[in-house]
Amino acid sequence: MSTAEIQDYLKTAIEVAKEAGEVVREAFYKEKSLQTKSNYADLVTETDQAVEKQIINSFKEKYPTHKFIGEETVAGGHKTEWTDDPTWIIDPIDGTTNFVHQIPHTCVCIGLSIKKQMVVGVVYAPILNEMYTGAKGQGAFCNGERISTSQQNDLKQAIIYLEGGSSREPDVLRRKCNIYQKVLQTTRGTRTLGSAAMNMVNVAKGSGDAYVEYGLHIWDFAASGVILIEAGGSMIDPSGGPVDFLSRRVLCASSQPLADQLSTTIPEHIEMERD
Ligand code: IPD
Ligand code: CA
Ligand code: CA
Ligand code: CA
Repeated sequence: MSTAEIQDYLKTAIEVAKEAGEVVREAFYKEKSLQTKSNYADLVTETDQAVEKQIINSFKEKYPTHKFIGEETVAGGHKTEWTDDPTWIIDPIDGTTNFVHQIPHTCVCIGLSIKKQMVVGVVYAPILNEMYTGAKGQGAFCNGERISTSQQNDLKQAIIYLEGGSSREPDVLRRKCNIYQKVLQTTRGTRTLGSAAMNMVNVAKGSGDAYVEYGLHIWDFAASGVILIEAGGSMIDPSGGPVDFLSRRVLCASSQPLADQLSTTIPEHIEMERD
């Protein structure tokens, strides 16, 4: 695929993300119409659903043959169908709980895969006014300025993003607590932004050094993954192998040595049910 084609996809994704971000911004300080999904901590609002529809319709107009994977369209319990076709991978609001509670770390995520390779990623945080973009081989940017990771490679000096996630299953929580304790013991500190994509773009721009999570989905980290890699970061499976977008696990870091150190430090690698 030519650079010009990738640039065209990126340009469209930025426009679509801006329009979606406007809807999120407009709704942010208003009362939300709220439902729960798998449990009381797994939220969806009317805005999540409306924004996803809007994004898909915009792309369909311009690219009628392309496929879509969207968080709110994937019906509960169904397996994600990810093919070699050009596929837009959409999280209409990443950080829905932040959105509900008026915490500004909330963003629209749009990624494009072709032959199951991520080629374009856009993460737009409308309340923070931050537009992160990345395209394969073309670098990563925030509001048009080039970004890069900290290149930190000493775990003892690193800040690690961790997330509680929305599972309330006791065994998952116990294992996450073990991981949390070990990470806290071996690093400079941990942080939680409440949005997978915001954690990843922050690592991409050098605000913090790594992020690990068990229990997320392809739409949570596909778009921000492009940005992280283009910013010089590494993305692997937490157990140390190559990242698998349907495994529901990810480890991102500012550098490959840091990714490897964090991977071997984690006391156990939680097996999640695959997407
Ligand atoms: C969630 C957020 C959260 C992460 C969860 C995700 P959502 O996405 O990114 O930080 O811990 O794993 O599901 O539901 O707000 O789009
Ligand atoms: Ca969700
Ligand atoms: Ca998400
Ligand atoms: Ca979401």
